Amino acid sequence: MLSKRVVLLLAACLVSIAEAALWPAAADSHQSPLTLSRAGAVNQFPDGFMLGAATAAYQIEGGWDADGKGESIWDRMLHEHPEYGTNGDNGDVACDSYHKYAEDVQALKNLSANVYRFSISWPRILPNGDTDVINQAGIDYYNNVINLLLENEIQPLVTMYHWDLPQALQYIGGWPNSILADYFVEYARVLFENFGDRVKFWITFNEPPAIVSGYANQGGAAPSQPAPGIGDYLAAHTLIKAHARVYHMYQEQYKALQQGYVGITLNCDWYEPVTNSTEDVEAAERGIQFMMGHYAHPIYSEEGDYPPVMRQRVDANSAAEGRPRSRLPSFTSEEVAYIRGTSDFFGLNHYSTLLATSGETGSVPSKEHDSGVISYGDDSYPQGSASFVRVIPWGFRKLLNWIAAEYPGYPIIVTENGYPDWGGLDDKNRTSYYTSYLAEMLKAINTDGNNVIGYTAWSLLGNLEWSSGFTIKFGLYQVDFNDTERPRTAKDSVQTISQIYSNKELPIEYFP
Ligand code: BGC
Repeated sequence: MLSKRVVLLLAACLVSIAEAALWPAAADSHQSPLTLSRAGAVNQFPDGFMLGAATAAYQIEGGWDADGKGESIWDRMLHEHPEYGTNGDNGDVACDSYHKYAEDVQALKNLSANVYRFSISWPRILPNGDTDVINQAGIDYYNNVINLLLENEIQPLVTMYHWDLPQALQYIGGWPNSILADYFVEYARVLFENFGDRVKFWITFNEPPAIVSGYANQGGAAPSQPAPGIGDYLAAHTLIKAHARVYHMYQEQYKALQQGYVGITLNCDWYEPVTNSTEDVEAAERGIQFMMGHYAHPIYSEEGDYPPVMRQRVDANSAAEGRPRSRLPSFTSEEVAYIRGTSDFFGLNHYSTLLATSGETGSVPSKEHDSGVISYGDDSYPQGSASFVRVIPWGFRKLLNWIAAEYPGYPIIVTENGYPDWGGLDDKNRTSYYTSYLAEMLKAINTDGNNVIGYTAWSLLGNLEWSSGFTIKFGLYQVDFNDTERPRTAKDSVQTISQIYSNKELPIEYFP
């Protein structure tokens, strides 16, 4: 009998052999090593394409205080303010993946997934946020998850931070305090040291706009510290610097040995101008810059730094408000250079499309007001159970093309895309959302020539949809939250998705 350790080593070798075949070295220095060749036909995925599903720690794990885990800002907020959530729902138990991860891996297997995007809970690893205490039970848990994935030939794609800041770090102000970057770097180091031998794809942050909204609004996102147009810009500034430092640390200290890739996941809707007037077209462009460019421009653009349109508008508004400084902090020129280019890939979460026009909106001060963009859903398209998702597949292709043109040379991994319903196993709407969005993504790859290299559907499991609780269901698998065993049941869409994933092609009938 082979020992478990030998089996794991063999599995890790197989993955790296497979990877070597999938990710040939770049032909020239301008081409990312993560470049896949276009498929022969429009409905096929390129060889080596990653297809899987995604989750996040707080939404699925439960075990909120198990085995030495520290408290997170989401634990704190939903315990202290259940009224900020829905029906008193919180992540105390959620899908109980802390105990049931083997069933999650089985669900991925049934889906024919070759990649799983999940997040690590910072307070499960470092209960105080700092390395004074490293929780071995937390390390063991993620080792078990990662090893089981590799035994099943599923590549782990790991998010370091999906919103669950250790509460201990909120006591010192959370992300608006720039010292947080120091703490994040040390946390990332613990992750590279413990898991970097097997994890080859790292995402520093998931959706910075959502993270920083916790410093702009009351209620919505933790820690619910409303300082709109100030706290959110400060928090964003720290996140960008923390991301860049972790990227550099990996290049300098881990890359040679671990041979992995580090990126960040940004989220964006497509903004479609209401009319083709210059004003509306500019408003739509500004919508994307304020939502995604805020983070993407410093990291992925040729020139770096914040988008000029943000700099100009926030500076002007701050002056008009009689402030002695801009609410949007500045990078030094050294910082601009240090941050530019700090990603091996572009992680994209995309759900829907908005209509955009120009006008006064939002409270003063706020990012919304600074943007001067009025955006809303087009009610001629069907809507899911969450109001922010209207099924507008063509916006996905436009956004992929926009990103590829604006930030050339970066491979894109679609790290989230999915449809929310109210529950039930018959989920035709989800199947049709996925097939129509996948068709647009394949056109962006095979017809338009963009280098998209992976796709993880949101979400593997019905889970805690943050402040919407368990009411809104994004899962491919239904989880029964009234049963202490939290049984998982495949919804009808799993059959179609699993066929697409195993055949590596989308049946041509899904192309309009
Ligand atoms: C987040 C997920 C969330 C999903 C659906 C994204 O904003 O990363 O955690 O559940 O969208 O709302």
